[in-house]
Amino acid sequence: MRLTIRDFQKMKSARQKIVMMTAYDATSARVSEAAGIPALLVGDTLGMVVQGHTSTLPVKLEHILYHAEIVARVTQKPLVVADMPFLTYHLNPEQALANAGRLMQEAGVSAVKLEGGEPMAETIRRVTQAGIPVMAHIGLTPQSVHQFGGFRVQGRELDSARQLVRDAEAVQEAGAFAVVLELVPTKLSQLISERLHIPTIGIGAGVACDGQVQVFHDVLALFADFLPKHTKRYLNVGDMMRDALAQYREEVQAGAFPTEANSFTMPDEILETLKKELEL
Ligand code: KIV
Repeated sequence: MRLTIRDFQKMKSARQKIVMMTAYDATSARVSEAAGIPALLVGDTLGMVVQGHTSTLPVKLEHILYHAEIVARVTQKPLVVADMPFLTYHLNPEQALANAGRLMQEAGVSAVKLEGGEPMAETIRRVTQAGIPVMAHIGLTPQSVHQFGGFRVQGRELDSARQLVRDAEAVQEAGAFAVVLELVPTKLSQLISERLHIPTIGIGAGVACDGQVQVFHDVLALFADFLPKHTKRYLNVGDMMRDALAQYREEVQAGAFPTEANSFTMPDEILETLKKELEL
């Protein structure tokens, strides 16, 4: 049985930390499920870590549909949440509902995530009232990176801290089942987590959040360009992959791979007959 948004709520009530990981393909989804990760996010970070862009802005709904379908199809237990890409929900609540509906119907995910606080409340209300669970995302919202002037911590000043509290309360009131807090000071995310009855999922928001989400490529060092402060590299898979591939190249160049163990045989008489036919 797949985890549901009710389980998320129960985990918050039981003070059990919620663990979420991004997944984009069959490998990242299967290995995360095998590790016991209960919730997967098909994030638009795929624009950076899979597609090689410098931001999430070029990601299209079709891209998320493609990757989310894979993640939902190859997993059994985790709750799968799909990100709504830039400009697929901003025009009006009807656009948001139509696109969120496609993510559920065509990709088979259980929930969608969209960025924005108070100004997105009406949209969140429309989508959740149609029966589509919404995870909100406030703080540093990467689709607005140009407006923020970079990937900066949010809520350090009184005005922006007040606004973040208002944003969190507005998305909860609108029906969001959880809210991602990105790049928010620990003390502020603690205050927000205590005020809300829905779970907060932090990324760069400290230990007081009800759960944490991390990017698959960051924790495994598969994305070497940049390591955000909020990430811990649990294993340097990127270096291990590079070394393994260099060894493969060297062995092929030296004629040391493939060996007989990696090769296939055929009966000698067939080869002899063939050679005769070819007059060799
Ligand atoms: O797109 C994504 O992966 C995200 C997480 C960083 C929260 O939104």
